[in-house]
Amino acid sequence: MTDSRYPIAVLVSGSGSNLQAIIDAAEKPGYAAEIVVVISDRPDVKALDRAATAGIPAEVVDWSDHESRDQFSLAICDIADRHKAQALILAGFMRVLAPVAIDRFTNRIINIHPALLPSFPGANAVRESLAHGITITGVTVHFVDEQVDHGPIIYQEPVPVLADDDEGTLHARIREVEHRVYPRVVDALSCGELVVEGRRVVWEGQ
Ligand code: GAR
Repeated sequence: MTDSRYPIAVLVSGSGSNLQAIIDAAEKPGYAAEIVVVISDRPDVKALDRAATAGIPAEVVDWSDHESRDQFSLAICDIADRHKAQALILAGFMRVLAPVAIDRFTNRIINIHPALLPSFPGANAVRESLAHGITITGVTVHFVDEQVDHGPIIYQEPVPVLADDDEGTLHARIREVEHRVYPRVVDALSCGELVVEGRRVVWEGQ
């Protein structure tokens, strides 16, 4: 039997709860994407256990084994190509890919971020949002371009900040939204429904 699903690589650095949400979605009939490889920049992370449990090939590309961001990024692209992945899905991946990777996967790299971009880009978005005293944060899914947390926005959803939130409680509620949203966006990308027009993304069929 041939599998006509769209092959994706999921890039992770940590717990992999968003990876798990995509794994779970991909087990349902009619889902458009198939995870062909999980790539982590760190060994010994829970995301790798999740891949193993699901029977998905996983590879580690250690930052310290590479002399430059270019080499690190090309190593990731080579693994994705070897597994015939058509797109890179960043799911809690905490490294910045070099432009060489963006060129190889133009409009085929997406990221999920725990804030309403362009507010609070970077690795500590939830902590910095709380410290700033904002009352509404959220989730952003966007295409990846050469700048950090900057590319065309595919989808955003607000999440209220509660008076007694700490970083853990707020991030947990943000993750709940992420787990609902990200598999849907990955499905839309895999179906070819996302069309980039400059800074805007048209979601065809919506
Ligand atoms: C997610 O909340 C994701 O939005 C965030 O890391 C978390 C990973 O969780 N990404 C970033 O902050 C990227 N700048 P997970 O490993 O459980 O999916």
